Amino acid sequence: MTTQTPQETTKDVPKEIFLRDYKPPSHSFAKVELAFDLREQGTTVRSIISAVPASGSTGELFLHGDESVKLDGVTVNGSAHERYERGSKGLTLKDLPNEPFELSITTTIEPQENTALEGLYKSSGNFCTQCEAEGFRRITFYQDRPDCMSTFTTRIEADKAKYPVLLSNGNLIDSGELEGGRHFTVWEDPWVKPCYLFALVAGNLGMIEDKFKTMSGKDVTLRIFTEKHNIDKCAHAMTSLIKSMKWDEETFGLEYDLDLFNIVAVDDFNMGAMENKSLNIFNSRLVLATPQSATDADYAAIEGVVAHEYFHNYTGNRVTCRDWFQLSLKEGLTVYRDQEFSADMNSRGVKRIGDVSRLRTAQFAQDAGPMAHPIRPESYIKMDNFYTVTVYEKGAEVVRMYETLLGKDGFRKGMDLYFQRHDGQAVTTEDFFAAMSDANGADLSTFKPWYSQAGTPRVTANGSYDADAKTFTLSLTQVVPKTPGQDTKIPVMCPVAVGLVGPDGKDMELTLDGKSVGTTTVLRFDKAEATYTFTGVEAKPVPSILRNFSAPVRLTTNLTQDDLVFLMANDSDAFNRWEAGQTLLRTLLLDLIKGDGQYKMDAAITTAMRAIIAGAKEPNADKAFIARAMMVPSAGELSDMLDEGTVDPAKIHEARTFVMKTLATELRADLEATMKANSAEKYSNEPADRAARSLKNTCIGYLSYLDDAAIAAMTYERFASADNMTDKIAALNSLSDKECDERIKAFAEFYEEWNKDPLVMNKWLGLQAMSNLPNNIANVKALMEGPAFDIKNPNKVYSLIGGFCASSVNFHAADGSGYEFLADVVIKLDDLNGQVASRMVSAFTRWKKYEPSRSSAMRAQLERIRAKKGLSENVFEIVSKSLE
Ligand code: PHE
Ligand code: ZN
Repeated sequence: MTTQTPQETTKDVPKEIFLRDYKPPSHSFAKVELAFDLREQGTTVRSIISAVPASGSTGELFLHGDESVKLDGVTVNGSAHERYERGSKGLTLKDLPNEPFELSITTTIEPQENTALEGLYKSSGNFCTQCEAEGFRRITFYQDRPDCMSTFTTRIEADKAKYPVLLSNGNLIDSGELEGGRHFTVWEDPWVKPCYLFALVAGNLGMIEDKFKTMSGKDVTLRIFTEKHNIDKCAHAMTSLIKSMKWDEETFGLEYDLDLFNIVAVDDFNMGAMENKSLNIFNSRLVLATPQSATDADYAAIEGVVAHEYFHNYTGNRVTCRDWFQLSLKEGLTVYRDQEFSADMNSRGVKRIGDVSRLRTAQFAQDAGPMAHPIRPESYIKMDNFYTVTVYEKGAEVVRMYETLLGKDGFRKGMDLYFQRHDGQAVTTEDFFAAMSDANGADLSTFKPWYSQAGTPRVTANGSYDADAKTFTLSLTQVVPKTPGQDTKIPVMCPVAVGLVGPDGKDMELTLDGKSVGTTTVLRFDKAEATYTFTGVEAKPVPSILRNFSAPVRLTTNLTQDDLVFLMANDSDAFNRWEAGQTLLRTLLLDLIKGDGQYKMDAAITTAMRAIIAGAKEPNADKAFIARAMMVPSAGELSDMLDEGTVDPAKIHEARTFVMKTLATELRADLEATMKANSAEKYSNEPADRAARSLKNTCIGYLSYLDDAAIAAMTYERFASADNMTDKIAALNSLSDKECDERIKAFAEFYEEWNKDPLVMNKWLGLQAMSNLPNNIANVKALMEGPAFDIKNPNKVYSLIGGFCASSVNFHAADGSGYEFLADVVIKLDDLNGQVASRMVSAFTRWKKYEPSRSSAMRAQLERIRAKKGLSENVFEIVSKSLE
């Protein structure tokens, strides 16, 4: 609960909205016709709505509408209607008919002045929209809630020379020329949808086109629109779209449901991308790519996000959310689907490792702090603040657990029943749960708390072998920690996938409760404590617990260092092979961080790392996996594992640097040989080449820790001669923490070469911002004033300001200068774009985690921000919850 009232901050005290207050809408909308008259100064929007009162209607209808929307007039059944009241959140119409009626509303809006990038706005001179979650109310007065579903017809009129392309959802049913150099199009979307899925684009855009034949033989036209100079950068997005369409047919039997599918790329976008029905709008960084301008990581992100938005056509659009508390219904499920897609397209193990790393670094941290919330939150002030790693990534883990518990086939049965029951409806996570349970006749009641409880369960697993009885006993315990507003918790069903690895390194056949259960079994662990005894265990095994990270929990085990080294070499589960190495590294690093400053390397770890690197010489080596296994836990992950009130980012940085440097020194020959063996003559985008590239660049990253002028020279050489962006950025990154001429030269040359490409410039800004060179804040401030930066563009803010917040040394500078700088930026941003400002201010939410001097400095900045007059609801919510 937010109790803090803002001091003269917003005009109204920000109101908290509760799930428990949900009421169905007073009217349904059978049909909506929209007409947009797009002008340089002021756009008029007319809507004609066929409204149907629900039974028991009082003759009142509340329509959401932002204060920025000018109301020109309301008619009911064709006559002017003046019985309404306008408040700060919308319009209450009174004395309405008790039978169906036609409501018409005309508004004027100013998209050319919209810096919030919600509703209708301009990007690079073109018009576009963003309506999720509650942006439609910045366009016109409407029941802006996802359970109000209707068909939409949209007429768009604009200047033809400036805006030759006019797009909306559905099918083009009419178009033509108008007087005064203007033209129009009319679009009809036959599928019912909530207004958050509405979209409109008007611009001077280029386009690439392809075709897809669906499983039932229908032809779909696929188009990707961008500014004309970027048209040669869309091929990868198109290939990704076609792969996604095919995968959804093969995996879930889901076939595209219109003749046209459009993607539009825009430079100014708050989020990644948006699944508007048949007119997806994307942040251009998730569409545009060539090997010269985008990295392998960008290519993977594009593939994943194109798929994600496409998959929403069923999980989100055909079946949508009843209210925004249900957001994880569509996001958790769709993230799970895009993760599975990417796993099928690439290396499954490496994909899983990447997803879990992100979950553990970002989501576990959120779940342990003041913004902790269940995947189905109970309340919010500003919905935008709940597009979180918890709703998305933890939500995806919850969906994945159904698959783990029910099996692939059982999961598919649940999905089929979900669509059978709910196609065309706005539903809840309970409905999804019921479909999964009912389709499988499964009792999953102890699984439910995953939806309502925040916090990461802590699970301990202790194994013991009884040589006489030939049994192996695994004892599990679980505790769900307290989170704000939730003091008491109950145990929740955790599927714990377990295998026993025999002395020969092979998985044993398992017998549990007298039944043979294969080599990996999923324990349904739903009590505070439970014990499982495997019988017929002929020799002492090493248990492999929580295979594939089968539940999003913090696991502690009684595995010894020898056990972990053994699992690293032998576990058949790729995730746990990686995890064993990470556990060794984490233990070492946490010991160093908590120790007395006398750093000492653990020889066993150097040996283990040497073995990992040596694996790259094997004939069928999984080089992407090896590169991943060489990575040392991030500062963020380590900080999350330390106690409240103790984190000193300088110490974490020192300890990590010590480990990297020691490994680089002791393994120098191995690293150099591996780097050379994996340096290709020429760029190729084949999976094997990408894997070799990441291995080579990981080696360069290690070597850069050596104080050796020859390494800096070699890295610069590689930077200058790279024929692709992955290698260029890797080399630049390896120079960015080094005080050397090569760094200065490389950044200057990179600017010369790429300053015309804003997406590449974002990388340039980001790398400099993240640098841990002492006093780099001056450079960041200079970059903010420079031509590559623009505070109105979210990508630039995320790169430069977000990048700066990732620097252990400079954001967390002991004198508080980094914190003060961030607060200055947040205060400035807040007037332009509350969503982006609240994402930036989130770097302060975990202030209590830090040692006393840093935590009080952060707190002081939070208080300074809170005192700002007219603070946005977005920032107010994050700041006040953080200060509670
Ligand atoms: N629904 C989008 C997605 O995850 C995210 C988004 C939310 C985009 C709000 C814009 C605004 O696919
Ligand atoms: Zn999504």
